[in-house]
Amino acid sequence: MADAPPLTYGRYLRVPDLLRLQHRLTEAHDELQFIVVHQVFELWFKLLLFELEAIRAAIFAGDVGGALHLLRRAHEIVKVLTTGWPVIETMRPVDFLEFRSELKPASGFQSVQFREIEYISNLKDPKYLEAFREDAEGAQRLRARLEEPTLWDAFVALLRSRGKPAGSDEEILQTVIQLQRRTEDHDLYELVEALVTYDQLFAAWRARHVLMTERMIGARPGTGQLAVAKVVGEEAPAPGEIEYFSGVHYLRTTTDKRFFPLLWESRTFVER
Ligand code: HEM
Repeated sequence: MADAPPLTYGRYLRVPDLLRLQHRLTEAHDELQFIVVHQVFELWFKLLLFELEAIRAAIFAGDVGGALHLLRRAHEIVKVLTTGWPVIETMRPVDFLEFRSELKPASGFQSVQFREIEYISNLKDPKYLEAFREDAEGAQRLRARLEEPTLWDAFVALLRSRGKPAGSDEEILQTVIQLQRRTEDHDLYELVEALVTYDQLFAAWRARHVLMTERMIGARPGTGQLAVAKVVGEEAPAPGEIEYFSGVHYLRTTTDKRFFPLLWESRTFVER
């Protein structure tokens, strides 16, 4: 169009729109930091999901080089996410208490994109849908993800298309052990390593979140404890049960989660 204004940085990136999205519930100084850190995490989650979808497509298409290229980007995104924790740790527990009670019952536990990342990456636990009863759109997105193939499904299909035994978990395990001897199919070996690196970086993100949480709220219940209770099938906590029901207690139960357990298990059996 002849009279359309020229493109500017702000118009292209919708910066004014972006900067209008931070609404504090209180006057507490640290609340803006809290909102910005969460929103930045969600933006990175968005990009990570986009890249994971492309990685899955590349693996299904047998394009191992393309998958490796984008997996390197996924690694860097998860590393950046992990560097977000020290920013939030500059908030003192007393500063957080100034606005924390206003957040209840909301919690990162209700992050739709985080669960989507888990589902597409191969941790499909439908129990988590319980946490989205108040969020029809989020629940819909998660139900769709539950129907989709995962990165692991793509990897197993690739092994089969390359003539590798992959009919059962035991066969996949043996195939992955064999790949680690690096005698053939070097590209598949590189893919195994890149998937393990993604899994390892994600586990480190989880572990760092737990440490930050312990430092911030000790053994207090999380703001999302009611949603957690629905998902893990516990009764709402009685007074005095704070230690058991602490947010950190729940988070610690997640730190052993792995997207690709067979890739980790193979390390136990690999021989020279
Ligand atoms: C002061 C900062 C934070 C504290 C004290 C905190 C604490 C917690 C706690 C206690 C839980 C367990 C659920 C609950 O009881 O509510 C949780 C879950 C979660 N939080 Fe945070 N969090 C903080 C910041 C963040 C940030 C910045 C993100 C980034 C999006 C985040 C993402 C998540 C996610 C994804 C879960 C679910 C984890 C899972 O189920 O595996 N949290 N958080």
